[in-house]
Amino acid sequence: MRKAIIAGNWKMNNTAAQGVELVEALKPLVADAECDVVVCVPFTDIPAVSKALAGSNIRLGAQNVHFAEKGAYTGEISADMLKEYGVEYVIIGHSERRQYFGETDETVNKRMHAALAAGLIPIVCIGESLEERETGKTESVLDVQIREGLKGLDDVSKIVIAYEPVWAIGTGKTATAEQANETIGFIRKTLAEVFCPVCAEKVRIQYGGSMNAKNCKELMAMPEIDGGLIGGASLKSADFAAIVHYNK
Ligand code: PGA
Repeated sequence: MRKAIIAGNWKMNNTAAQGVELVEALKPLVADAECDVVVCVPFTDIPAVSKALAGSNIRLGAQNVHFAEKGAYTGEISADMLKEYGVEYVIIGHSERRQYFGETDETVNKRMHAALAAGLIPIVCIGESLEERETGKTESVLDVQIREGLKGLDDVSKIVIAYEPVWAIGTGKTATAEQANETIGFIRKTLAEVFCPVCAEKVRIQYGGSMNAKNCKELMAMPEIDGGLIGGASLKSADFAAIVHYNK
């Protein structure tokens, strides 16, 4: 049995003070959660939010990490810098990073290995664009993202994968539960082929893309969907808590 993991991706929202306010409101609402609960916050929020989360069941995540241990990489943040503040998870290869910041499967791969080497759990994002889905390329796009992005991984169950169809992110359009389940099933089948059937059964695969308090129940009821990576709906404590309690 895979334990569900609900992670918020705040993106570039919330100053440190606003972030603390949000998690203070969230803590009592999700204290009884049966799943893993994570908030992935902007870098500058990390120290204050980390302090606010101490002793709670909410784990802390970042939204990116550089692949070098240290050095001349202006504007980047290393895994050790995150670890110092108790960060446990890190999103890697989000479609917004791929689209606006030149992230490729190669850099995703390097960041993932650096995160793992430092003891962080990568949440690696993959997904197809609308054009790719409409032209029947979804599976071939995911296949490349898996083979290239996850290259060299000894045990795929050490990471979390987020399947995020790019056309569903922040658009209010969600993949139907069946579509999401089918595509995640394809991802798991590919992982079994590339890595091993046992670890493919163990790896947690989230759905992301306009998951909200209303549609989470149906999505999470699907056998292949092990969690959610939530953008917009993670910015309001009540909405995010409702997703955490998807089975209630
Ligand atoms: P959304 O974002 O929930 O706002 O669609 C999801 C994501 O980008 O992780």
